[in-house]
Amino acid sequence: MSDRLLDRIPLDSFGDVARLVLETPVYEWIRSGAGDEQSAIDNVAAFRRWRMRPHVLEDVSTVSTAVTLLGTPLEVPLLVAPLALQRVVDEEGEIATARAVAEVGAALIVAVNATTSVEEIRSAAPDATLWFQLYNWDNRDALARVVERAEAAGCRAIVPLVNTPIGVAHTPPRAGFRLPAGLSFGHFEESPGLDAGNTWSYLEWLAARTTLPIVPKGILHPDDARRAVNSGARGIIVSNHGGRQLHRAVATIDALPEIVAAVGESAEIYLDGGIRSGSDALTALALGARAVTVGRPVMWGLALGGTAGVRRVLRSIAAELAEDAALCGVAATSATPRDIVIRPPA
Ligand SMILES: Cc1cc2nc3c(=O)[nH]c(=O)nc-3n(C[C@H](O)[C@H](O)[C@H](O)COP(=O)(O)O)c2cc1C
Repeated sequence: MSDRLLDRIPLDSFGDVARLVLETPVYEWIRSGAGDEQSAIDNVAAFRRWRMRPHVLEDVSTVSTAVTLLGTPLEVPLLVAPLALQRVVDEEGEIATARAVAEVGAALIVAVNATTSVEEIRSAAPDATLWFQLYNWDNRDALARVVERAEAAGCRAIVPLVNTPIGVAHTPPRAGFRLPAGLSFGHFEESPGLDAGNTWSYLEWLAARTTLPIVPKGILHPDDARRAVNSGARGIIVSNHGGRQLHRAVATIDALPEIVAAVGESAEIYLDGGIRSGSDALTALALGARAVTVGRPVMWGLALGGTAGVRRVLRSIAAELAEDAALCGVAATSATPRDIVIRPPA
């Protein structure tokens, strides 16, 4: 799709347009949530319960969206969530996404279930800020080997998924989705199983194996956030997997404030799930997130326009973030004050 055409599609219609170009099982694999999809629905809906309470007469002649994540400066407080199998929707897949991320000054969390290896992604996008997501594999030697590969490829953080003790048979079987013939995984030939016996010592084991910061993804409880920090986590991704695992899990924006209060300054907190606009991102920053991750909208952008599509998604969110920040009297989104959002009584 041409850039001109892409520019004419409102961001919130990307999913509907992608539905026209993707096979139904692929579209449903991306769109759907687990079970009755309540959690996936709530992630998005919960943002709509917050309202902005702007400050006025602040100097917002320039607005900066710059942020530093675990010591790495970025132009925008946005990360692409780990999204498996990106070559299913675009020929270049993860490489197209990495190039877009580098152009926008965001970061990409490479999924261990990627269809492109982290080495190939790095050589195609040398300037991209990359993190690397792990599954809780039951084979620690295999885990240690992919961590080494991620380190050697210049990733800046290791992101162990901690909310998948068991592999919930969620969307793929229902949607009828299968890995298309001709595509393969970038980091293994056959995936190890999942270890349902992992406890907090798993994070300690990881922290002892790498110099990279450990950033667990999938925490919703403030006590767990504290335990994660005590086990060596330097950052925490507040996430319910986009509502694709536990179908009645709390919306992530509702879980965020207590986690921020529990952890304080001892780790960086990132919000994953339901980010569809810059207004959502500003709400999350006001509630204490240092950055937000974007999942499904990136897959829609990738399906519609490869690098240009992902770039458009990230730029639209960043532009609206800057616009809303200006209207709220916030000149630097990294210092968004808590008091610009309120939750009116229902
Ligand atoms: C198509 C698709 C594939 C995903 N693959 C992974 C994955 O391999 N690893 C992972 O940690 N999360 C995966 N997720 C979850 C995302 O990282 C993220 O938590 C979720 O999409 C965030 O919600 P959002 O889509 O509302 O932004 C996937 C999500 C989707 C939609």
